[in-house]
Amino acid sequence: MLAEGFSEKFDLIYIDPPFFSGADYSVVEEKDGKKSISFAYKDTWGNDLKEYLRMITVSIFAMKELLSKEGLIWIHLDWHAVHYVKLIMDEIFSSKNFVNEVIWSYKSGGSSRRRFSRKHDTLLLYSKSGRYKFNPQKEKSYNRGFRKYSFKGVEEFEDEKGWYTMVNMKDVWNIDMVGRTSKERTGYATQKPEALMERIILSSSDAGSLCGDFFCGSGTFPAICKKLGRQFICCDVGELAVKIAKSRVE
Ligand SMILES: C[S@@+](CC[C@H](N)C(=O)[O-])C[C@H]1O[C@@H](n2cnc3c(N)ncnc32)[C@H](O)[C@@H]1O
Repeated sequence: MLAEGFSEKFDLIYIDPPFFSGADYSVVEEKDGKKSISFAYKDTWGNDLKEYLRMITVSIFAMKELLSKEGLIWIHLDWHAVHYVKLIMDEIFSSKNFVNEVIWSYKSGGSSRRRFSRKHDTLLLYSKSGRYKFNPQKEKSYNRGFRKYSFKGVEEFEDEKGWYTMVNMKDVWNIDMVGRTSKERTGYATQKPEALMERIILSSSDAGSLCGDFFCGSGTFPAICKKLGRQFICCDVGELAVKIAKSRVE
């Protein structure tokens, strides 16, 4: 059901649900130099993948209903369940409407000797109908050897590394995690970076668009929606998450 006052459906939905990680997550809050740790949410599912996929499937069906015909939906996951959810999305949204698999690559503490260290999340992007508006984002592409090419009609720029051109963004994004010393850190364990939300929102919506995040955690998505002039409706099952998200947005 849409909130009162909104007759339109969502232009953009982004969700960052539990990942089937098998862990519990907390919030670390600091007040007057004192640290307190509170429970945020559970991601264990009795180790039953079916149970988890049932929740995801029901949510995806509901979100499809809420999405406008030209709408776009992003689902943010990692290696634990993304391959199963991809098949569910293909079934519900149709594989024809699969737009992108974006890899968010980051640095974080810890590494493995038994395998390559797992240092990326996967974001699946689908459109509802195949008809959608996408705003390409630009990124720097350094010339080979960082030299100037001087090709006719190609605008080149120079920074401290060397010469580059601006190209449409690729689907592997290197963005820093919200680390311990990060200014945007709220203490919410699975908080996502603002720069990541900014790319998603700018590429997949316009000023005034209605955007939704129904697993909003610490409220990164709504905070950036507000900054970029989007309308938004967001929620989370956790009281603490809602409290943090609300204060962040306000
Ligand atoms: C990975 S976190 C989201 C983090 C968020 N993107 C941020 O930047 O802080 C997943 C969130 O899903 C919430 N959640 C779990 N099950 C839910 C459900 N059934 N409905 C709504 N929210 C749920 C959890 O409370 C948690 O805050």
